[in-house]
Amino acid sequence: MDNKVYQLIYRSKALPRLKPEEIVEIIDQANEFNGKMGITGCLVYDRGHFLQLLEGEKDPVDELYRKIEKDSRHSETEVLSTGYTENRIFESWKMGYVALADKSAGEKKELAKNAKNELAKVSTKSDFTSKVYWYNVHSLLTESMYYK
Ligand SMILES: Cc1cc2nc3c(=O)[nH]c(=O)nc-3n(C[C@H](O)[C@H](O)[C@H](O)COP(=O)(O)O)c2cc1C
Repeated sequence: MDNKVYQLIYRSKALPRLKPEEIVEIIDQANEFNGKMGITGCLVYDRGHFLQLLEGEKDPVDELYRKIEKDSRHSETEVLSTGYTENRIFESWKMGYVALADKSAGEKKELAKNAKNELAKVSTKSDFTSKVYWYNVHSLLTESMYYK
């Protein structure tokens, strides 16, 4: 597994009334740490819910998740999938951030289309966690009942 990238996806509920500035603060903090640890990924925020993908070496990713899990800015953390992949989904980003609430309907549609295309691409590979990621991003964008 040496040359493989470990991926972990979880979702959680944001603390009620968490402000957009506070999420940007999390990202700033994350980028400094993740850059040093070779961790990439993306944090998606919508309607009070987080969906985050972490990718890198297994030990630093697991260690980071244990810290994130204890963070009081969210609750009900639930791991959706873990696994290994040949290629990172987010090569060049330290930690991408997408706040869906800021997006117009047109932008959401475009993002949903991208997620579907990416899902189709990884579906030809035995890359389960990447599939789970794109499936969840797509669902989050298209199903109003996704998180209840
Ligand atoms: C939704 C969410 C996502 C987070 N993502 C990261 C991350 O990718 N990297 C990171 O270093 N901290 C992230 N954090 C912050 C960590 O939980 C924690 O505050 C940070 O690692 C600093 O921990 P320390 O003070 O124990 O060093 C996240 C927090 C939340 C609520």
